[in-house]
Amino acid sequence: MNAVKNILQQNGFNMAHYHEESFGATPVEIEEEVLELVEQAEQAAEDVQQSDLLQVEFASSGKSVRILPSETVHAAASKLGLHIPKACGMGICGTCRVELKSGEVEMEHNGGITDEDVADGYILSCCSRPKGNVVVDF
Ligand code: FES
Repeated sequence: MNAVKNILQQNGFNMAHYHEESFGATPVEIEEEVLELVEQAEQAAEDVQQSDLLQVEFASSGKSVRILPSETVHAAASKLGLHIPKACGMGICGTCRVELKSGEVEMEHNGGITDEDVADGYILSCCSRPKGNVVVDF
């Protein structure tokens, strides 16, 4: 920043238009607050019972994984190294559409799937969270 300031001064820049912003060390109160949040998150992770996990099976790939109810089908696939195509990641484009062979999901899409596709058993994996164990065709 000093070098830039010196260059500007040497080249006649109107320093009335020069603005500089610097950041100092993180205040102790903030560091303590962050540490507390990290501890809470770690405790929450430990509190997850194995029985709370839901199984997501990918039938065509012959792979399955257990995930938290808050995780998406797409995240489950990623954990297994399965790459379901994805673009928007928010239920708009329909790129991540897969067929749900069994089980139920909570799908919060934004118009990226038709009612007909839903009736035919398709889901958008990026915004679908299993309500129980599910089997997906991928
Ligand atoms: S990636 Fe766009 S709807 Fe899932």
